[in-house]
Amino acid sequence: MEQERIIEHAVRALREVGADSAKIGLILGSGLGGYAETLENKRYVEYASIEGFPVSGVVGHKSRFVIGEKAGKTVVVMQGRFHFYEGYPQALLALGVRTMKRLGVEKLLITNAAGGINFPAGTLMLISDHINLSGTNPLIGENLASFGPRFPDLSNVYDRALRTKLKELAAADGIPLAEGVYLMMSGPCYETPAEIRMARVLGADAVGMSTVPEAIAAAHCGVRVVGISLITNAAAGILDQPLSHAEVTEAANNASERFTRLVDRIVSDLF
Ligand code: HPA
Repeated sequence: MEQERIIEHAVRALREVGADSAKIGLILGSGLGGYAETLENKRYVEYASIEGFPVSGVVGHKSRFVIGEKAGKTVVVMQGRFHFYEGYPQALLALGVRTMKRLGVEKLLITNAAGGINFPAGTLMLISDHINLSGTNPLIGENLASFGPRFPDLSNVYDRALRTKLKELAAADGIPLAEGVYLMMSGPCYETPAEIRMARVLGADAVGMSTVPEAIAAAHCGVRVVGISLITNAAAGILDQPLSHAEVTEAANNASERFTRLVDRIVSDLF
């Protein structure tokens, strides 16, 4: 089905539960979806109930929009996202962000679990910029001019003013917050040690399999983005041990208290 039609279906379903008053969007990554449970007055729209909408089948990911209130503001959350490695063309990964844009969302927090290249497991890393090594781009294909231009500028994808303010808020709250460059690989394999050495040379601080398509879609349609990576493991080859998805979700669970405090701050005082 054509993108515009799928977005229309999604917007209609979300308006029915009052999501059109949301100016704030959240995309919650691997093991981080529990934040949605902290919203008040929650309403749910399953991705599977929206005609044409993809669903995520990854362990640790729910597959629904959660709409609720926090600090007196309406928030629309993607609890679980779709990944390029699940077989979707990246254009489909833009659907959630574009749906939020149509609802009136102005600021978007994108979160993920990532492997650390320059930071150890447990670090919360504010994304300053990204490197797209996924091999493709969500804007390939016909340009949907109602969202943005054919050749969008990506020089401030992760909004500089919001980053500056968030670093101040985190420091005032005693939440350690690193900052660095996120590099996207397609997955689903974790990287080889040689690929991680390459990523380091390229200037990456963390590596993962998501976020970049959504951030590009947001930049295209003028939604301001804040990105947070939770470093769940040392990237391949840094420690002499294999990587596993169980390790990733466990590390995410361990960091959930700090993560929740930081996201609360973002929703109540940054956004
Ligand atoms: N590599 C890629 N994606 C990831 C990793 C990793 O080491 N950890 C969590 N997501």
